Amino acid sequence: KSDLKTRLNHEEDEALTRDMQDLYSRLLPSAESEQRRTRFIDKLDRLLRGNWPTSSITVNVFGSTGNNLGTLDSDVDICITTDCREMERVCSIAELLAQNGMERVVCVSSAKVPIVKVWDPELQVACDINVNNPLALENTDLVRTYVDIDSRVRPLAMIIKYWAKRRILNDAALGGTLSSYTWICLALNFLQTRDPPILPTLQQQPKLEPKILAGVNVSFDRNIESYKDFGSRNKSSLGELLFHFFRYYGHELDFEQNVVSVRLGRILSKVEKQWHLLQDNRLCVEEPFNLSRNLANTADDTSMRGIHMELRRAFELIGEAKLEDCCEQFEYPK
Ligand code: GTP
Ligand code: MG
Repeated sequence: KSDLKTRLNHEEDEALTRDMQDLYSRLLPSAESEQRRTRFIDKLDRLLRGNWPTSSITVNVFGSTGNNLGTLDSDVDICITTDCREMERVCSIAELLAQNGMERVVCVSSAKVPIVKVWDPELQVACDINVNNPLALENTDLVRTYVDIDSRVRPLAMIIKYWAKRRILNDAALGGTLSSYTWICLALNFLQTRDPPILPTLQQQPKLEPKILAGVNVSFDRNIESYKDFGSRNKSSLGELLFHFFRYYGHELDFEQNVVSVRLGRILSKVEKQWHLLQDNRLCVEEPFNLSRNLANTADDTSMRGIHMELRRAFELIGEAKLEDCCEQFEYPK
């Protein structure tokens, strides 16, 4: 550990930061892709109202469509709020959509939050739909507020998501790795724990009125005006931040002892959190509102080892300012 590289030299930093800015501009959604998404949402809204004309129905977007971390090919995450009991059994929505030209319709009604997955071949949009799950809207707002506080958050988080996708490290449902949302929480907590910090801890501000939703407190400080210059004492470039992100999670943070907590803006010990009895040596990431939920529990021991190896591989390559190699598409050995 002692011979780990501690910093990028000036040339490496400049080259890496420039490459990150280029990549970021390529990841940003185009006007055309935004338009397809908007048309999809209108179409869905019309279909649902047509089928359940007497119910109250609101189609809300969340996830990357709402938190400003979407890329060209991000899916659309939709939460329908309604008083219609039949829609809560999401399979009725799946049937309706399958009859109206949607493809690859999958209904996961047994999940904790039942969802329908669809692909719209006309608008080329993939979508996940759930019903009456207000927490997802709140944590999307929380993420977007953090993204809006410092201009480095958006490019950094989008590049980390991109890297995770290319290395096949972000398929919580199928691959047993971590969701984009989990990677985003890792990035936010990393920025909260820099010295000086780049992000504040929005859920711990004094005088916050508790706001209880679905049994949990979802209040946080939404007044971003008061955080305008929060991160300005920290002058780190994007390149330095990416380098330290991989150093921190690849080598510095001890996964066995610690819990990543965006809520508290610091690292918690597993003993403090009472998660040490879970008997695992794996990474734990606390959901910012739903405190009993470990967002990293989608990865088992083997895939967690793989993720750790990938973080270290990325650290090596970023240490040589090799962004493209770092994000090289992972191919399974034949
Ligand atoms: P991409 O779709 O990859 O661009 O990223 P994303 O930001 O949309 O993230 P993702 O699809 O992983 O998750 C979408 C949203 O679902 C997140 O913004 C969260 O609001 C919510 N979410 C995802 N996983 C969980 C979870 O395990 N628990 C809770 N409470 N919410 C989750
Ligand atoms: Mg999404």
